[in-house]
Amino acid sequence: MSSDSASHASSIPEDAMPQHVAIIMDGNGRWAQQQGKLRTFGHKAGVEAVRSSVRYARKHGIKALTLFAFSSENWKRPKDEVKILMQLFNLVLSSEVKKLNKNNIRLRVVGDLSAFDEKLVTKIRKAETLTENNSSLTLNIAANYGGRWDIVNAAKMLAEDIAESKVNIEDIDEERFHQYTCMSDLPPLDLMIRTGGDHRVSNFLLWQCAYAEFYFCETLWPDFNESKFEEAVFDFCQRQRRFGQTGEQVSPANQGQG
Ligand code: IPE
Ligand code: IPE
Ligand code: MG
Repeated sequence: MSSDSASHASSIPEDAMPQHVAIIMDGNGRWAQQQGKLRTFGHKAGVEAVRSSVRYARKHGIKALTLFAFSSENWKRPKDEVKILMQLFNLVLSSEVKKLNKNNIRLRVVGDLSAFDEKLVTKIRKAETLTENNSSLTLNIAANYGGRWDIVNAAKMLAEDIAESKVNIEDIDEERFHQYTCMSDLPPLDLMIRTGGDHRVSNFLLWQCAYAEFYFCETLWPDFNESKFEEAVFDFCQRQRRFGQTGEQVSPANQGQG
């Protein structure tokens, strides 16, 4: 069996697929260190796993894929590692955008871009504009992203709209607030995958993960591929999502009976 073969593919009905998947791509450093190499070698190797995941998502009709590339806390890493991560992001943008566009993929970068240098921001905006009308998959790259930042940023924008009398305080509810958070125009997050063996959210999509299913695997990110993605999706498909209701209420036998 090839590493990219999809063993469960035939058993997952199309309408059971998650519409929005997020991945905490963790374990690059350990993957490299296990081979006696520098951590940054793992980050470079991780790019191939990104390609595989995008391929899988597009092939299987997932509408949105959100990848955690750099957290608002990752600035605390050694300067050299941060520098190489930024260079890699820049390089991948240059090499991949054309291909993404050709594959009808819309690229978006989510996060606080104010910390990035102007040239990089211009490049990001150009890539987003080039691909904005593509419809096969929305690929969100979370860069300098933090779930708490997202919520605070939403609160700030909402406050601005209140100050300008565009919104009344009485009209604020969850749905209204949601409109100000990142990716509010995309389907709700169905599945959150974390590779690398740790069981935590590390300040990723805090608002959006309210009813997401979590899937943790030991695989270090550079070893993640289409078949590992398939395993996560297969696991997701076995679960019963109750959204606060009872199992009986949401069982297919009772659908349509209120
Ligand atoms: C994830 O891998 C990539 C980034 C956070 C940029 P790590 O670099 O965190 O790898 P580990 O967890 O140290 O192995
Ligand atoms: C989360 O991984 C961030 C990314 C994958 C980009 P980290 O490796 O930074 O998370 P912690 O520090 O182990 O929580
Ligand atoms: Mg890590």
